[in-house]
Amino acid sequence: MTGTDGAEPGTAVETHAPKPVSVGVAVISDDAVENPGFPPYRPRVSDLDPAKERQNERRIFWLFLASMVGSVLAVVAYIVFPIHEGDMGSVRLNNLFLGLGFALGLLGIGFGAVHWAKSLMHGHEEVEQRHLTRGKPETVARAGEIFTIANEESGFTRRKLIRNSLIGALALAPLSALVIFRDFAPADNPVTLLKHTLWEEGVRLARDPSGAPIKASDVTLGSVFHVIPENLHESSHPLEEKAKAAVLLMRLLPEDLNVSEGREDWNFRGIVAYSKICTHVGCPVALYEQQTHHLLCPCHQSQFDITREAAVIFGPAKRPLPQLPITVDEEGYLVARSDFHEPVGPSFWERSL
Ligand code: FES
Repeated sequence: MTGTDGAEPGTAVETHAPKPVSVGVAVISDDAVENPGFPPYRPRVSDLDPAKERQNERRIFWLFLASMVGSVLAVVAYIVFPIHEGDMGSVRLNNLFLGLGFALGLLGIGFGAVHWAKSLMHGHEEVEQRHLTRGKPETVARAGEIFTIANEESGFTRRKLIRNSLIGALALAPLSALVIFRDFAPADNPVTLLKHTLWEEGVRLARDPSGAPIKASDVTLGSVFHVIPENLHESSHPLEEKAKAAVLLMRLLPEDLNVSEGREDWNFRGIVAYSKICTHVGCPVALYEQQTHHLLCPCHQSQFDITREAAVIFGPAKRPLPQLPITVDEEGYLVARSDFHEPVGPSFWERSL
């Protein structure tokens, strides 16, 4: 291809040297180094030998074909190796073959395109002088010419086998991504999914990960506990349930708590429990600042004020952390009064329904 200024390949382009520009005391001039021009064009083996040219053409075809096989493999793997909840073996199989399919699909296109450019398209160098970005009519016409020349030189229209296999590979590649996007749409209503956790009236608060129930007397002033429902291990999907039900438990002086109407009995003598799932995008909120009673989410630094019912005081989160109403049972163990009163975790479209 030639440059947009119309220079012939292999020839140095004459430039109008700008006047030296003074920057402070330094003087910059762009003619300090002589333009060496282009090196002479060295023909490649495929330029000289038609048999090698055909061989390269076949190789490129096989690479694009491999890409198509990879994309189909990803789709087939998604169907043949579904993920079964709680079965890590199925997750590994699914990820392995899906990943192999993706890799083959994308690498086939990438390697094929690079091989095509390096072995069959013209290899001479080109130069494009900087000029105003707004194109003049002549520039636009010249661009059209360049496309035509590029088409001739690359053989895009002429080499039908390669062109069609590339089109096939490009058309199939997004298919493998589609099956992944499918998983973004939950099968169940997200409100139902996130509003109901393992917490219900009478379920004891237990330490994470041991599962040992917690007595109110264990929770000293200023302490913080990572908490799971005691019945978590009875669940058939403990990981999914823990991701929704994880709670942080803290004790403050009762007079430090600003309790809104209707929530007077949600804490037990200054012991409060809040969802650990950040209302921004769902990271675990895990850092408690004892002196200020602030909870910090390490992902994007949202901060929640525990004295004001976990109100957001900094960061991208938009809603307070949902509070879990708690009390104690007859043995002095902390128990939930009910489930959360709202869906836990980040906001989503259906949340207001
Ligand atoms: S997920 Fe917590 S601040 Fe972003």
